[in-house]
Amino acid sequence: MLARRSQFVGLLATFVVLGNCGIISESQLRSSYDYIVIGGGTAGLVVANRLSEDPRVSVLVVEAGPLDKGENFIHIPRFVGTAGDGLTSVYNWNFPAEPQPELNGRAINPPAGRCVGGSSAINALLFDRGSINDYNSWEELGNPGWGWKSLLPYFIKIETYNHPPKEIAQPFNITFDPSAHGYSGPVQSSYGRGFTNQTDVIFDAFKDLGVPREVDGTNGRKVNALWGSFSLHPTNRSRSYARPAYFEPVLKRRNYDALLETRVTRILTSSSKGGRKSKANGIEIAKSSTSARRTIKANREVILSAGAVASPKILQLSGIGPKKVLQSLNIPVVEDLPGVGYNYQDHSATPVVQPFAEDPQAVNDTIGEYLYYKNRTGPWSGSGLALGFLPLSTISNRSSDILARYAFQSNSHLPADLHPTLLAGYERQKQLLIKYLPTDLTAASEYIYGGGAVVATILHPFSRGYTIINSTDPFANQIINQRYLSNPIDYDVLVDQVRYARRILATPSIQALGPLGPEVLPGEGVEGEEELREFVRGILSTFSHVSGTCSMMPRQLGGVVDKNLRVYGVDGLRVVDASVIPLVPGTHLQATVYAIAEKASDIIKRGD
Ligand SMILES: Cc1cc2nc3c(=O)[nH]c(=O)nc-3n(C[C@H](O)[C@H](O)[C@H](O)COP(=O)(O)OP(=O)(O)OC[C@H]3O[C@@H](n4cnc5c(N)ncnc54)[C@H](O)[C@@H]3O)c2cc1C
Ligand SMILES: *[C@@H]1O[C@H](CO)[C@@H](O)[C@H](O)[C@H]1NC(C)=O
Ligand SMILES: *[C@@H]1O[C@H](CO)[C@@H](O)[C@H](O)[C@H]1NC(C)=O
Ligand SMILES: *[C@@H]1O[C@H](CO)[C@@H](O)[C@H](O)[C@H]1NC(C)=O
Ligand SMILES: *[C@@H]1O[C@H](CO)[C@@H](O)[C@H](O)[C@H]1NC(C)=O
Ligand SMILES: *[C@@H]1O[C@H](CO)[C@@H](O)[C@H](O)[C@H]1NC(C)=O
Ligand SMILES: *[C@@H]1O[C@H](CO)[C@@H](O)[C@H](O)[C@H]1NC(C)=O
Ligand SMILES: *[C@@H]1O[C@H](CO)[C@@H](O)[C@H](O)[C@H]1NC(C)=O
Repeated sequence: MLARRSQFVGLLATFVVLGNCGIISESQLRSSYDYIVIGGGTAGLVVANRLSEDPRVSVLVVEAGPLDKGENFIHIPRFVGTAGDGLTSVYNWNFPAEPQPELNGRAINPPAGRCVGGSSAINALLFDRGSINDYNSWEELGNPGWGWKSLLPYFIKIETYNHPPKEIAQPFNITFDPSAHGYSGPVQSSYGRGFTNQTDVIFDAFKDLGVPREVDGTNGRKVNALWGSFSLHPTNRSRSYARPAYFEPVLKRRNYDALLETRVTRILTSSSKGGRKSKANGIEIAKSSTSARRTIKANREVILSAGAVASPKILQLSGIGPKKVLQSLNIPVVEDLPGVGYNYQDHSATPVVQPFAEDPQAVNDTIGEYLYYKNRTGPWSGSGLALGFLPLSTISNRSSDILARYAFQSNSHLPADLHPTLLAGYERQKQLLIKYLPTDLTAASEYIYGGGAVVATILHPFSRGYTIINSTDPFANQIINQRYLSNPIDYDVLVDQVRYARRILATPSIQALGPLGPEVLPGEGVEGEEELREFVRGILSTFSHVSGTCSMMPRQLGGVVDKNLRVYGVDGLRVVDASVIPLVPGTHLQATVYAIAEKASDIIKRGD
């Protein structure tokens, strides 16, 4: 235990020395900065890094959380996402969500990182991209320049791809498309050394079921059976996240300041252009709810990167959001933007479980720990993920019926008082989902197998939620209502994705692993449509892919930011984080968020 800790003390010591340069205390703040970035998370650290490349401009990043202390659950794949550790730690906001009527009153709290690096510090390491269709649909939602072709250079820019050595690549058939990858970017993409014969057994199951194998899911063909790499450093096998990738390397810059453990409570605005348009000209900060507020001026721009849960809250607290919400709290309306906090989307998962004999190659923790510290190999070092990203027609034998019902569905599942622009935006999204979900280049559900569990995740949910403030206190919780399954058609996809997960478990390849007993989830005999729906209600969980709450879309579709990520109606203010994603892509989100932030940095530098 002590030996393990000491590995990280060295890192910490290095950091403290670095820290004297860029991490400042409140008393060291300048009175103004050219750019102020709110949130030192995944996107915010990219933007602060890129903007400060120009020594003539000053950049401040304000982060609510602290530096992580190099805990095992941050760095070691074995401990990533372990309950009672990473996911409930001081580095998680622990936002409370509303009980969900369709989930038997269960609340699903969205995890979100609260430290330097944000959610990239606590996520599950999978490093992937969506399909061509996913990004092209953003462009078709009225955002020229945000399709697959425009984003690919940024996916390449963020990445240093490390293909596994022959001893792993060959037996596990890990192939890749060299043209899809970057080889000198800040984020390390690699495979651990903890592969066992069961790591890719789901590929055998897919073969049994006739699911084709892709060369490389990052080249835009994010469908069928494919390998997923990790955001993992290829030699020390510790997490590669925004802190080592984008923060530590630039702390020495004299024009870069970072203020930590400080919350931005409000964006300050002034009226300009004869009072017709507001301009963001600074921020208000506080250490705690009772401490004095302090303001800092922004000479050029404020960039909001607090993540998809917190960014809409900060806008609303600043008078930018749905007029009804602001007026109910007596917040002066700076800009009436009905989309702020709406169009909330997430990926949610269902498991199917049958116990199997233990993987004979699995190694116990004593050996795992030894191998990791001795050699950075073994199960603690992680592996890669054998994934299925399956089109709707693969997982469901009623896919055209589902889409037809979706196409002709009334709006009765939506809140009656939904703003007409949001309705128009949801309608446009519907048209795009109906266009793309029948194709073989759009995945409807993701499948992962491990230890007797097939976990299936819905990638293009039809339900939309919201998050709004109910208090003017920035330290009070906001209302988070994901409205999971509020669109009844999501049930059909979820029930069919459970059925397909069962088909995976039932394949000869999986059954050859030696079942120790019958299926335990949903459980033998749970067969009918209604029984499976009840199972879904009791088990659905989040994949932590919150997006959409400050969507990049035309204003008349309920958008909050334009294609240059500028907030409508407010000069000098942009949003850059997962909240601008207008339609959640069929992928885990981190690489997409990094790419958005790189592209945004170029846009800001150009002054577009
Ligand atoms: C538990 C978990 C597992 C995940 N697993 C994966 C995965 O395996 N693969 C993958 O690709 N994606 C995964 N994701 C998703 C991905 O990590 C996120 O979508 C992405 O990191 C979000 O980046 P962001 O910049 O939008 O927000 P964040 O990275 O969350 O950054 C927001 C930052 O703003 C700060 N902040 C918030 N409010 C304030 C305030 N008022 N003042 C100052 N600072 C503030 C926060 O503390 C935080 O540091 C996971 C996410 C989570 C939470
Ligand atoms: C596991 O894979 C290795 C290498 O391909 C092979 O030699 C071995 O027989 C396999 N073991 C089992 C139990 O299948
Ligand atoms: C290996 O992967 C390729 C895709 O890159 C696929 O075409 C091929 O069938 C796979 N081989 C085996 C033995 O599964
Ligand atoms: C792993 O190595 C990278 C690159 O040298 C470094 O940035 C990171 O801090 C290291 N991680 C740990 C936990 O030592
Ligand atoms: C794990 O391996 C160690 C070393 O071989 C052994 O002493 C220990 O009993 C094993 N533990 C379990 C739970 O199997
Ligand atoms: C240590 O790592 C090397 C290179 O990956 C590998 O060949 C070797 O088998 C490992 N040693 C142990 C004890 O696992
Ligand atoms: C579709 O699949 C379900 C469940 O697997 C089955 O009961 C049903 O008969 C199938 N329907 C068609 C039209 O094939
Ligand atoms: C606002 O909503 C949050 C989250 O549901 C709740 O915890 C809080 O009590 C509510 N506050 C008020 C003033 O109603």
